[in-house]
Amino acid sequence: MTMQFANIEWRASENGTETPYSIDFNDVYFNSENGLQETEYVFIEHNQLKARFTALDQATFTIIETGFGTGLNFLAVAECWLKHAPKTAALRFISIEKFPLTLDDLRRAHTQWPQFAEISHEFLQSYANLKAGNNQINMARRRIYIGLHVDTILTALPKNPQTADAWLLDGFAPAKNAEMWSDEVFTHMARLSKPNTTFATFSSAGTVKRGLQAVGFSVNKHAGFGKKREMLSGVFTGSTA
Ligand SMILES: C[S@@+](CC[C@H](N)C(=O)[O-])C[C@H]1O[C@@H](n2cnc3c(N)ncnc32)[C@H](O)[C@@H]1O
Repeated sequence: MTMQFANIEWRASENGTETPYSIDFNDVYFNSENGLQETEYVFIEHNQLKARFTALDQATFTIIETGFGTGLNFLAVAECWLKHAPKTAALRFISIEKFPLTLDDLRRAHTQWPQFAEISHEFLQSYANLKAGNNQINMARRRIYIGLHVDTILTALPKNPQTADAWLLDGFAPAKNAEMWSDEVFTHMARLSKPNTTFATFSSAGTVKRGLQAVGFSVNKHAGFGKKREMLSGVFTGSTA
């Protein structure tokens, strides 16, 4: 596959910052009022990452993300990991992205989160060499490993052998980005999950809820972030009853 970069424009936000907007998908990469708070609420809190990192008794913790985008989720999770996980453990952060942002756009996005400057700086050095396929990056003195698959989800996920401890489901809205929320994706999620693997997503679409239940996740609805009414999170039980 040849690499095709994301077609985006920068839009001014009400809070004086700017947010990337996907022209092809007609959707935002994250909440324009406070993307970082949304990431913390939806993905970190509803996968209980802080508590799980703090209490970790295994050598690695694996997160699989659908849609790397600006890397905001990655930066926030990486910081949470470096603060709370045992120093001897390694975070394996696997993310799948069909249309990566250019290095300049990624750098521009990251400038709005100066608290992640150190992690971002190290990451961007590797991102400069991004290629199609699997990009393997070791960082934070080997406390963090990233597998960034520049590929379509339906090609990359079937090839992935790593079982997830937590999923971050972050495609564009399901109505605009059906492939990212397809039954095939959910089937692979079940293959790559174990008892107590969790997932979280900003979406509360009925098709997502039913699709995940059908492959063995228990699914709960919660209040959504910002203007979104609801969001979903849950646990893999293996039971499809
Ligand atoms: C909402 S954005 C992700 C935001 C991201 N997690 C962040 O922290 O900025 C959704 C992403 O899914 C990617 N995407 C859309 N369709 C895809 C597909 N079929 N396979 C892989 N990635 C896809 C888009 O290019 C986009 O970067």
